[in-house]
Amino acid sequence: MGQKFVELLANHPWFEVEALAASDRSVGKSYIETTGSKASTLPESLQKLTVVEAKPGAIDDPDIVFSALPTEVAGPIEEDFAKSGLPVFSNASSHRMDQHVPLLNPEVNAEHVALVEEQKKRTRLDGFIVANPNCTTAILTLSLKPLYDAFGLETVVVSSMQAISGAGYPGVASLDILENVIPFIRSEEEKVERETNKILGSISQPAGVTVSASCNRVPTINGHIEAVFAKTKSRATPEDVVKAMSGFVSVPQKLKLPTAPAHPIVVRKEEDRPQTRLDVDEGHGMTVSVGRVRKDAGLGGVKYIVLGHNLVRGGAGCSILNAELMLAQKYIQ
Ligand SMILES: NC(=O)c1ccc[n+]([C@@H]2O[C@H](COP(=O)([O-])OP(=O)(O)OC[C@H]3O[C@@H](n4cnc5c(N)ncnc54)[C@H](OP(=O)(O)O)[C@@H]3O)[C@@H](O)[C@H]2O)c1
Repeated sequence: MGQKFVELLANHPWFEVEALAASDRSVGKSYIETTGSKASTLPESLQKLTVVEAKPGAIDDPDIVFSALPTEVAGPIEEDFAKSGLPVFSNASSHRMDQHVPLLNPEVNAEHVALVEEQKKRTRLDGFIVANPNCTTAILTLSLKPLYDAFGLETVVVSSMQAISGAGYPGVASLDILENVIPFIRSEEEKVERETNKILGSISQPAGVTVSASCNRVPTINGHIEAVFAKTKSRATPEDVVKAMSGFVSVPQKLKLPTAPAHPIVVRKEEDRPQTRLDVDEGHGMTVSVGRVRKDAGLGGVKYIVLGHNLVRGGAGCSILNAELMLAQKYIQ
């Protein structure tokens, strides 16, 4: 995820990477030394940046912090940066469910940014933390938002097929995942179930949707595919669902934010799409691709497949879009 941040920020029109921080393993080395040839297409100034410790004093006067730290260490480090007066955009789960931390997927719940005012009042700090959702949840909630708004949602059942990069680097051992499917990702199902309700809900109340998730690791590199069943409150045919999703745009598109895709959701008409290899980079990884929208006659609802890039829409891209939104709305200077 850290490498994806650097790649997306390398030519960003508003933000410039001034410092990179990581673990003791990397501190003191240049970025290219820590990543090897993977960073060789980046500008030389980035390749040569020396990795520093992840603490406020180690970084010279930053304006914004993007965090892609493991959950086991992220909590206190992110708090230290917020205490030093900085806005922190986190990918870790440590603070996602904190009452006054916005769990932000900008096309879905841009209005939740207002929570930072309450957060700052309570902590009496100028800095604050904004989290983005777990990757599977980011992709799922973006596809659900038009349905939630147009028809209401009663129940969502989702089965995910999640790429290897979702487990970080080096992640799952190749001998465990090649030619294999692993039907368990620790804590993932619980995250999808509770985060979906926080994101779709109002600023003060979870949405109250019954969400049931089954999460699986599959041998693809990037891109999570999810098979979704949704029971809406008011009647919605597959045609209604396709129409609601296809026309969906939201605050980031209206504000023309640099990382906002023109179409947050693309609905494929082919019977065998979306496919990971063909569709994962749609909208530079910020668009989710939906397909196979159909009626579930037995259970009385609709079913569809959604695919999204876990490191972009489900991670670094979403975090950068959060920062763009808050800058555009003057929550940060
Ligand atoms: N991968 C995804 O698709 C995805 C999606 C959404 C959210 N997330 C979340 O994003 C975070 C990062 O995930 P990842 O997949 O990028 O994990 P990762 O590949 O394991 O990378 C973790 C990074 O954190 C650094 N680090 C570890 N311990 C540290 C410490 N004590 N102090 C400072 N830096 C430390 C590591 O430094 P070194 O480089 O020195 O080892 C590495 O750069 C996690 O919280 C994860 O749950 C991941």
